[in-house]
Amino acid sequence: MTEWELRTARSVYVVAESEAGLELRHWGDPARRREPPVARRSPFESPADAAPLELTAAGTRHAQVSELLVQGPDGVDGALLGLVPGSVAAEGDGTALRALLRAADAGLEVELHVRTSAAHDVVERWAVLRSVRTTGDLQLTRAFGAAWNVPVGPGARVAQLVGAWSREFTPVETDLAAGQLVIGSRQGITSHLHSPVVALTPRDGGGGEAYGVALAWSGSWRMLIDAVPFREVVRVSGGPDDETGVVTLAPGQEFETPHLLGAWSPDGMAGLARTWRAYQRGVLARGTGVEHRPVVYNSWYATRFDVRVEHQLALADVAAGVGAEVFVVDDGWFTGRTSDRAGLGDWYADREKFPDGLAPLAKGVLERGMRFGLWVEPEAVNPDSDLYRAHPGWVYRAGERPLTTMRNQYVLDLGRPEVEEWAAGTLRRLLTEHPITYLKWDMNRAVSDGGRPGDPRGRAWSVQHTRAYHRLMALLREEFPHVTVEACAGGGGRVDNAVLALSDVVWPSDETGPRDRLAIQHGFLSAYPPSVMSSWVTDEPDRLDTAPVSAEFRFVVAMAGVLGIGADPLAWDAAARTRARELVALYREVREVVHTGVVTRHGDPRDAVYAVQYTGPDRVVLLVWARPGAGPVRVPLAGLDPAARYRVPGRIPSEVLDGGELSEAGVPVPFTLAADCDVVVLDRVR
Ligand code: GLA
Repeated sequence: MTEWELRTARSVYVVAESEAGLELRHWGDPARRREPPVARRSPFESPADAAPLELTAAGTRHAQVSELLVQGPDGVDGALLGLVPGSVAAEGDGTALRALLRAADAGLEVELHVRTSAAHDVVERWAVLRSVRTTGDLQLTRAFGAAWNVPVGPGARVAQLVGAWSREFTPVETDLAAGQLVIGSRQGITSHLHSPVVALTPRDGGGGEAYGVALAWSGSWRMLIDAVPFREVVRVSGGPDDETGVVTLAPGQEFETPHLLGAWSPDGMAGLARTWRAYQRGVLARGTGVEHRPVVYNSWYATRFDVRVEHQLALADVAAGVGAEVFVVDDGWFTGRTSDRAGLGDWYADREKFPDGLAPLAKGVLERGMRFGLWVEPEAVNPDSDLYRAHPGWVYRAGERPLTTMRNQYVLDLGRPEVEEWAAGTLRRLLTEHPITYLKWDMNRAVSDGGRPGDPRGRAWSVQHTRAYHRLMALLREEFPHVTVEACAGGGGRVDNAVLALSDVVWPSDETGPRDRLAIQHGFLSAYPPSVMSSWVTDEPDRLDTAPVSAEFRFVVAMAGVLGIGADPLAWDAAARTRARELVALYREVREVVHTGVVTRHGDPRDAVYAVQYTGPDRVVLLVWARPGAGPVRVPLAGLDPAARYRVPGRIPSEVLDGGELSEAGVPVPFTLAADCDVVVLDRVR
């Protein structure tokens, strides 16, 4: 039986041709490779049911879940998929593979793609589904791109990130002995409810290996974690939501599925988080440099919809003074936008608020030494807008069902080419007419009635919308590479690995209360890197964890990612402004290590003391938060060379500590910054 081995940095991904198709032979540590168990097959299963296939269809499998559900024009469901002999081809110096499956009965061809990177432990997979029929449409009621046969079974401990608006990225764990766990979104966006990423470990803890699967997709989606009783692999698959959408293939048409990512670590859940972050920083991001993660000042919390030039410039004075590098005017600047009831769609500076257009404000911001940024929500429209009055047919509507607003707005149907063209034109106009170098792209409601009645492609509306959104984000990057893009959807409603590949930073949550934010960031960092984690200092209260905090605490929370300021600094007295300037300066000294170093989370934000460690080659930065009265503590550091020596700059008496001591006894945290937080910097002595 021919095998193909794909190498990642430390693992191998091995597939083989078998009687049943293309199946997984091994995924993980090359040294732990075992001969696959001889599948004991009962009369109740077909070979395809028993085999760990890379992808299959109902009609090929009969007892187990399949990734493809196909309906032919003749009323026949399913497809008998077989591997086309000789079609498996290794590519790219052992880091890529392509294989062809064919179902002659259905008239379907499936091109499987696998791609790895020699520098990371992440495997990328997707499929291209093609109709080779000459007549009649194929309906793909499920079109997932891959199945991952995760070798942790029987059953698994499954870790996920769940949430709600303002409570995103909350970690939960499920002990899945058998059966299916299903997560997803029906909202046309990634959603606040579930992040499209899961981590699997053996139910008994196992030997330290942890596996992650993520779906790089920003529309409605579904992931299935299928623990078949007594099976050694747990199958994880995913793709566009199969409850609310159907992909139709006319003869000769093809559909490339969303991509899935599989991550592996020999070092448990903490190692898996490192695997994800290294891949996102090294492969998905266009860079981790400071040019696309500036210190933002955002005026939303200070002004809401009351945007006035003089007031914005007064804010800009203080923002520049404390060290902001870009001034972003949030919602409220465009025509008719006095509340959330009107204006979305009319992306021209409001005449009453800006009688001379945006130019005087933009100029004033640039003169103060900052870049100029703007908020937009290109996918949405208020019924009270010129755009909607001109194009009432551009919004999603489900036939005769009455249109519903959420936050007083409809969603534009980006699946219509003329709407996508309008959005592209609007973005191009804004970015060429004004000296904008920072764009916050928001999306503030779910799609509740997606569809385009009468259009045979209309049931794939979410796929079309998402592809158009991705194309528009790619347009920004290609045509306006100097523009930093912050992705947002009412907070963290659209954070996924596809968005990470097309934006510079993401806004993880509208929750900026410091303790609640810290908890959200803790979850976020388990699957995403600090270099994309936009975080602002505001004056907003906490809702859940209301233990008091200092002003410094708020700053250190924001320092854990890409720091911004969203407070009303005109309300700060001189001492508060001076302190803010000092804290922004401290952040600027450590941010390179925060954005590029190896991240270790120590404890949980609910603990008396919680810390996040960022380890660079020459510097370690430790951010520490404590409960009132926690007192001096030591935090044992992770991942240091025991022989390396470190100095704590500015600490008197100046100490030199070695890596072994810092790992065992820990670094002392004196809480000099404030009683409830500190920033400890250790420089390596060479
Ligand atoms: C969303 C965003 C906020 C702000 C408002 C403006 O809620 O998440 O940051 O931009 O919209 O309406």
